[in-house]
Amino acid sequence: MSWGLKNRVERLMKGGRTVMLAVDHGYFQGPTTGLEDPRKTITPLLPYADSLMLTRGVLRTSVDPDLEVPVVLRVSGGTSILKELSDEVVTTSIEEAIRLNASAVAVSVFVGSEHEKETLANLAELVNEGERYGMPVLAVTAVGREMARDARYLGLACRISAELGASIVKTYYCEDFSKVVNGCPVPVVIAGGKKLPERDALVLAQNAMAGGASGVDMGRNIFQSSDPVGMMKAVRAVVHEGARADDAFRLFDEGQAARQIAR
Ligand code: R5P
Repeated sequence: MSWGLKNRVERLMKGGRTVMLAVDHGYFQGPTTGLEDPRKTITPLLPYADSLMLTRGVLRTSVDPDLEVPVVLRVSGGTSILKELSDEVVTTSIEEAIRLNASAVAVSVFVGSEHEKETLANLAELVNEGERYGMPVLAVTAVGREMARDARYLGLACRISAELGASIVKTYYCEDFSKVVNGCPVPVVIAGGKKLPERDALVLAQNAMAGGASGVDMGRNIFQSSDPVGMMKAVRAVVHEGARADDAFRLFDEGQAARQIAR
């Protein structure tokens, strides 16, 4: 592994933990609730993000170039919620990722889906290219629609991604999550998934950290919150300070009340 690749991973995971802000949802689901105006959503959250995961289109149009937060560039896509989601291709080259000063590229793999093989080949191709330029690859794992999101299938997808050379793997939290982490020799971060009540999302983060996650790559549970900045701070407390979900939720609740009074 080259020094450059290691350096990029370190930038993303200072101290081995990370709070990634995921705002790439539009690449397959269009103007997602909370991301209709990406700049408006992203800007106030930047001071609290360890990295920002997004497409080149949103990076170019909605983030100023004096950005100091490392970028994880979403480089797979080519399909939409109207079609088969696993039918993805690589949409953005490693050279473009370097031009955009990305710290990693992100690609989805759909294990057990119709286009499993193609998505795994996308990952392998990006790892091969990434090794040449010192660019880490984050594998965003999903499992087939008919498969349970459990430790068996998520563990399968994570392990395959690591075996193909991903530097970081993103998955979903599940029961027996430590089995997923223990079977995956690279850092694992969790997506938040659909919007939950804030306290539940913090419990999810707490449980994932207890199960050995290296952090979160969270989107909707942040930017669809009634107080996105407060939620970022609360998630940071869980990931970086080991705060209990209850204490982090109190932080969120008190902060939200104070901000409402100030308005
Ligand atoms: C999904 O493919 C996207 O890459 C999202 O970035 C990912 O699902 C994380 O966002 P959320 O926490 O909203 O699930």
